[in-house]
Amino acid sequence: MSDTVFLRETFAERFGGSPRFFRAPGRVNLIGEHTDYNDGFVMPAALEFQAEAAAAARQDRIITIHSLNNGRSAEIDLDAEANAPRGDWTDYAFGVAVMIEKAGTTLKGADILVSSSVPVGSGLSSSAALEVVTGYALLSLSGYAVDTVELAKICQKAENEYVGMRCGIMDQFISCNGVHDHALMIDCRSLERKPVPIDPKARIVVANSMVHHALADGEYNKRRQSCEEGVRLLQPVLGDIQALRDVSFDALEEHRDLLPEATYRRCRHIVTENGRVLAAAEVLERGDLDAFGRLMNASHVSMRDDYEISCAEVDKLVEIAQSQPGVFGARMTGGGFGGCVVSLVAAGAVDDFVEKVRAAYFEASGHTSDIFACAPQDGAGPLF
Ligand code: GLA
Repeated sequence: MSDTVFLRETFAERFGGSPRFFRAPGRVNLIGEHTDYNDGFVMPAALEFQAEAAAAARQDRIITIHSLNNGRSAEIDLDAEANAPRGDWTDYAFGVAVMIEKAGTTLKGADILVSSSVPVGSGLSSSAALEVVTGYALLSLSGYAVDTVELAKICQKAENEYVGMRCGIMDQFISCNGVHDHALMIDCRSLERKPVPIDPKARIVVANSMVHHALADGEYNKRRQSCEEGVRLLQPVLGDIQALRDVSFDALEEHRDLLPEATYRRCRHIVTENGRVLAAAEVLERGDLDAFGRLMNASHVSMRDDYEISCAEVDKLVEIAQSQPGVFGARMTGGGFGGCVVSLVAAGAVDDFVEKVRAAYFEASGHTSDIFACAPQDGAGPLF
């Protein structure tokens, strides 16, 4: 049974009536980690893994949601005095509804059935996919045309203010605006974007380390604070800087004594990573996959040593990936402390790569990595 037939039938059993269908993808980031909340540059691609929703408008202002992933249901009344977060998966969906209304757009109630193939806790943005598919469905069912840049901003706001995770815009933006067969270079300050074609000679391969260290969210917010501290301490000498995006490598080096050692290294990661994303877009444009791979490898070193967001398992997986024949480069992708490694691999070497990396990582860690080659997808929209 195809996914949509299954969704349609399950929707009919649970809610009755005939729904409309929507999708929003997860993502992998090729390069540019933790640069988004520093007004910098990122280069993610949308994945085949996606959240899907079957949804129909209701006559009242109640939103009910049922997840096929965890078998749970929940509802929210848009007319309630206040809708407080519940500290679970529903916050991603209801947070978006609350933020849309807060921005002055009136929604209809809806019945929503969701099902997601984005693995949770693997750094592939399962939460952004759930936010975006819910927002897309609610706006469409209420009769609005969806502006995918605005939707990304609303979903980020939901995560910042409702879920309480101070993420940047990358995940929601790529889930909304991905481009088939391309990575997307995003300027997280202006939100200008440029699709960058992936040379068919290479494939993006994602390998899951199968570990996720629980400190991720707390450490994420700490990294943000270090970046803010860096800006604050550099402002007196650099003048009108808003974010680390405005700090050049030379300026950082010149004034490094103003920063505590760890803060300096956090800033150095962001400043050098922004430079790597700009260089990566250039080399990818002219098909220089070797140069792109070197930038990926350097990005991993910087995340590991300067930003300190990697972990032993991920470092091992990166090392194994980087030593395979046909690999251009490999690095951790996503927020950190576990999750996935992204590699760029020569198309003809992918099958061997997958087999060898899986075996060597199992040998080294005892975990069986899920590894897959991906083909970048379009951003969110109707399912058909
Ligand atoms: C998480 C956040 C993003 C981004 C990445 C790191 O995925 O949601 O905004 O900061 O981490 O690049």
